[in-house]
Amino acid sequence: MPGLVIVGAQWGDEGKGKVVDLIAEHADAVIRFQGGNNAGHTIVRGDETYKFHLIPSGILYKGKLCVVGNGVVLDPRVLNEEIDGLRKRGTDLSGLRISANAHLIMPYHLLLDHAGEARLGKREIGTTKRGIGPCYADKAARLGIRVQDLLDEKILKQKITAALEPKRQTLREFAKDPRLDLHTMTEDYLAFGHRLEPYIADTPPIAWRALDDGRLVVFEGAQGTLLDIDHGTYPFVTSSNPVAGAACVGAGVGPNAIDDAWGVSKAYCTRVGAGPFPTELHDETGARIQGAGGEFGTTTGRPRRCGWLDLVALRYAVRVNGLTGVVITKLDVLTGIDPLRAATRYTGPEGASFDDFPYHQSVLHRARGALVELPGWEDDITGARRLVDLPPAAQGYLSFVEEQLGVPIVMVSVGPGRDQIIWTDAAERVRSAPA
Ligand code: IMP
Repeated sequence: MPGLVIVGAQWGDEGKGKVVDLIAEHADAVIRFQGGNNAGHTIVRGDETYKFHLIPSGILYKGKLCVVGNGVVLDPRVLNEEIDGLRKRGTDLSGLRISANAHLIMPYHLLLDHAGEARLGKREIGTTKRGIGPCYADKAARLGIRVQDLLDEKILKQKITAALEPKRQTLREFAKDPRLDLHTMTEDYLAFGHRLEPYIADTPPIAWRALDDGRLVVFEGAQGTLLDIDHGTYPFVTSSNPVAGAACVGAGVGPNAIDDAWGVSKAYCTRVGAGPFPTELHDETGARIQGAGGEFGTTTGRPRRCGWLDLVALRYAVRVNGLTGVVITKLDVLTGIDPLRAATRYTGPEGASFDDFPYHQSVLHRARGALVELPGWEDDITGARRLVDLPPAAQGYLSFVEEQLGVPIVMVSVGPGRDQIIWTDAAERVRSAPA
């Protein structure tokens, strides 16, 4: 079995962590291909809850190859903390590999992220302030510092000096900040590098070998399609490409390595940070979804904006990612809401109507979801393990989504637990892969 990309089909936080965790059991390797510790995954195993920001979700399987790919931007302080936390809980980390080519988030990236948002004031993006944008900017400007640079003091110092030079003006208010002291920064990062050294590797060949052997390789995306810097709601986006095509670049494989792309979507919509959200709810139903779904960010704890399922945006995600399967999560959160609603098209100013996701920022900002009503259900669905266990209205909701998207639903999550999942027949190809 071949390459499977798993991406967020909305604005992130779709519950990809649980999906990747379940599929990782059948995989040889799990590879993160973009983003950084702006992401957050929560995995529930029995009574234990694990939160990850950088390490792929598969790490809880003993010896499973879990790769932080070259497309990731990595804060070594955060990664070391994550490693320490897992070690304390006795997790086997022998499968962890970190790309020597991944770029490092430096202390000045954090300061620049804060300063950039402060400068924008009311027009701020609402970033996670983890230094993601400034780090990718340095990568593009060829001023980035990579994991491999941690292993050579002279090179590290030279590169930090070069990277700081053009930022002096912007960072002048922090000129005396100990976090920007060249000596301290070099010492700290050398120490991080020393601790990460056992895991640093040339990572693309890990994927090539597994794929050559016909094993399943999972490419794990972070954030979501509508936060993509090219295809999302720019400028209210992250600074990387969370779409499926980026798996090739961020992991070092060709397009022929990808056989399936699954998009994960909640049964409704959420968004953190600023930016357009055509189906956003500002009423009691929105508050109810936020409460029932525990819609607060894993990384920043910020409340997430909530709204109805947006099928216009999802149809767009199907095309942009070339989705071959859709995973619906948190269906249980909709229990007790009747009727349910979903947007099948948008309306704009002066009676305009859109079937397709508008490319123009001004149009999108004014678009509102044109909603259809669908019957809700009252029965608890958290015990359902097959589609036929669901009440007819819940089955009807899923069939409607499938029909609108033209792509099969492969999994449905009905609760936070690992076992609270429905696999459909369409997922069989992945489930039957040799473990
Ligand atoms: P940045 O990635 O920290 O630069 O933030 C840019 C935008 O992406 C902001 O709106 C963030 O809230 C959003 N964002 C970044 N990472 C995530 C994520 O993992 N889930 C949801 N939103 C995210």
